Amino acid sequence: EELTIIRKFEHIEHCLKRNVQAHVSNGFEDVHFVHMSLPEIDKDEVDLSVEFLGRKFDYPIFIAGMTGGTKGSQLAGRINKTLAKAAQELNIPMGVGSQRAMIRNPETWESYYVRDVAPDVFLVGNLGAPQFAEAMPNRYGVEEALKAIETIGADALAIHMNPLQESVQPEGDTQYRGVLKALAELKAEFPYPIIAKETGAGVSKEVAVRLESIGIDAIDVGGLGGTSWSAVEYYRAKDEMGKNLALRFWDWGIKTAISVAEVRYSTDLPIIATGGMRDGITMAKALAMGATFAGVALPLLKPAVKGDVEGVIKILRRYIEEIRNAMFLVGARNVEELRKVPLVITGFTREWLEQRIDLPAYLRRR
Ligand code: FNR
Repeated sequence: EELTIIRKFEHIEHCLKRNVQAHVSNGFEDVHFVHMSLPEIDKDEVDLSVEFLGRKFDYPIFIAGMTGGTKGSQLAGRINKTLAKAAQELNIPMGVGSQRAMIRNPETWESYYVRDVAPDVFLVGNLGAPQFAEAMPNRYGVEEALKAIETIGADALAIHMNPLQESVQPEGDTQYRGVLKALAELKAEFPYPIIAKETGAGVSKEVAVRLESIGIDAIDVGGLGGTSWSAVEYYRAKDEMGKNLALRFWDWGIKTAISVAEVRYSTDLPIIATGGMRDGITMAKALAMGATFAGVALPLLKPAVKGDVEGVIKILRRYIEEIRNAMFLVGARNVEELRKVPLVITGFTREWLEQRIDLPAYLRRR
């Protein structure tokens, strides 16, 4: 149990102090808006609100889950409460980090608890897919999932899929057999929405179709091009073999832009586009490609660690103003209209998508 907690500290420390981002882009540089000289709307009528899982949000940005698992209001608790205050202020959703530590050490529950400062926030709990695998001793089921939700008063549960990270760390949970079936069984009994979430290597159309077939409610594509968990594990690795493996897989995965297109093309599920989203133009592109939210983790960590709510809000407001400006310049009054504006897709992203999906059909139906 102590190990899980120490690991979380190491993750945060490396994320704060080192370059943990992919060396490759998330693909959105290949996606282009067509500037409109006569937008025929007023900039101040642009409406950024979106609907998701039966709720309405003021802005299409999702604060992706990062942490939890310390006692009381120490580091993790401070991070979550700071993010929650910002999310409450802006009426946007947020996730907490993996609640595995809380399932094992119930006394750490407070570090995930934000309802005292964010009574209305749409809050998403978080458990790991490998914990539901056949070979896992004391594998999770409905009981643990309910505990994750109900202890913190969450509205939905994210199940993170992270085979890449698990595979490059020495103590990784690399058993994944039976996870899909376990999630299908969970979904059948579970009264809350479930979001399947990658953590930096993206979701393919094949996986998306399976997730939709078992009734999963939404997908966070968690694509390549932002925080790289192989990078984090590279810094944590103790020996040469470990360092080599993590370095080799530093840039493994499906880029965020590509993953959004694959999932939108192959399913009707709401999409959260997370992974290297660092400005509002990129975010607007993700929305135009069919995502409901752009998700952000790493850029918010620094102010959140300091308890700097205004710092978190400032970053988010910058994104919001950039999204609004991009929407004005393509003549989109709202996110629904943004999905209908022309997009030009070039380069690597185009080459990939031409081999994987019917690109013109996707661009029509996004
Ligand atoms: C994460 N992420 C993450 N995801 C998850 O499902 N459970 C978790 O416990 C964590 N923990 C975590 C800690 C830290 C410090 C970071 C930066 C990230 C992954 C996160 O939600 C997101 O999917 C990725 O980080 C990609 O987004 P960015 O960082 O590129 O914006």
